[in-house]
Amino acid sequence: MNKTASLSSARRQKKDDFYTQLPDIESELRHYKRHFRDKVVYCNCDDPRVSNFFEYFSKNFEHLGLKKLITTCYRNQQRDLFSRHDCEQAIYLEYFGDQDGNKVPDAHEIEVKHLKGDGDFRNAECIELLKEADIVVTNPPFSLFRPYVAQLMEYEKMFLIIGNMNAVTYKEIFPLIKADRLWFGPSISSGDREFGVPDHYPLTAASYRIDSNGKKYVRVKGVRWFTNLEHNKRHEDLILYREYSPEEYPKYDNYDAIEVSRTKDIPKNWGGAMGVPITFLDKYNPEQFEILGADYDVKQGLLSEILNPEWTGKTDRGYINGKRMYSRILIKHKRGG
Ligand SMILES: C[S@@+](CC[C@H](N)C(=O)[O-])C[C@H]1O[C@@H](n2cnc3c(N)ncnc32)[C@H](O)[C@@H]1O
Repeated sequence: MNKTASLSSARRQKKDDFYTQLPDIESELRHYKRHFRDKVVYCNCDDPRVSNFFEYFSKNFEHLGLKKLITTCYRNQQRDLFSRHDCEQAIYLEYFGDQDGNKVPDAHEIEVKHLKGDGDFRNAECIELLKEADIVVTNPPFSLFRPYVAQLMEYEKMFLIIGNMNAVTYKEIFPLIKADRLWFGPSISSGDREFGVPDHYPLTAASYRIDSNGKKYVRVKGVRWFTNLEHNKRHEDLILYREYSPEEYPKYDNYDAIEVSRTKDIPKNWGGAMGVPITFLDKYNPEQFEILGADYDVKQGLLSEILNPEWTGKTDRGYINGKRMYSRILIKHKRGG
């Protein structure tokens, strides 16, 4: 492996090793209780010995009324806090709820089984488990976010997963948002979140912490829950206060749309197209707004109705007075404007 490749794989590996904290799982899951009754939940990127997803679902099994919990672990030969694998084979756990009435998931109630392969979510035996599942919940490796979501779509699964909000700009992900087949969960819409990291993780990040047991944590920006489970917040209207004026809302040089650089400033009385930041998706109510596309679509020649027909320059982004704007989503009011 050359130096650049090994560096980028190291970077990838680092982002793949962020371990979700229990309070973040609890804050999100409380919005979905109604979806889980009598369901098989599958956590397929989770070492059950350390995963807080396994912890959460096993301890809340009765509260949620689950039918079964399956958790597969990906083989990782590095011995560290988070992956204490002694054997080459990956394992998976099945839990059917409390059997002895003490309301605690005891070791003898959890069936530990061996997988033939390494537990990669794309392996045939993991796909068999996926088929059995109703809802998949986890924080998958960031570097595999695209194939991970593609697999959930292929098998038509309900899901609740953690990712980075920049993933919305992926050409595989944005069409799902536009088609209302994927949206953000309600509990994280700004700021950063703390994740556990393995012992060997280099703490060069600005915000890190080591707790009294020596466990390491970093704070990560841009984290979001991605889901296709219904929740109430996404049907709440964004309250708008601003009136349109040509001075405050300039038109792009190349798009037939106005620039709105902050979601809260969307004018209530503009009927045409508007370019908004991707953080708009934190407030997106599909009954209030229509997503027309993204600047990426214009570049691909997909949104010809938006493109200024006289424009001969670049189409990679919106431009205002020759200045290239940040990445934008193009939207429109649904109930007039
Ligand atoms: C971001 S970490 C999250 C771990 C755990 N889900 C959590 O939230 O605490 C991603 C996990 O996916 C595992 N993983 C990496 N590649 C995988 C693959 N191809 N199939 C399944 N799991 C994988 C890694 O070992 C790591 O534990």
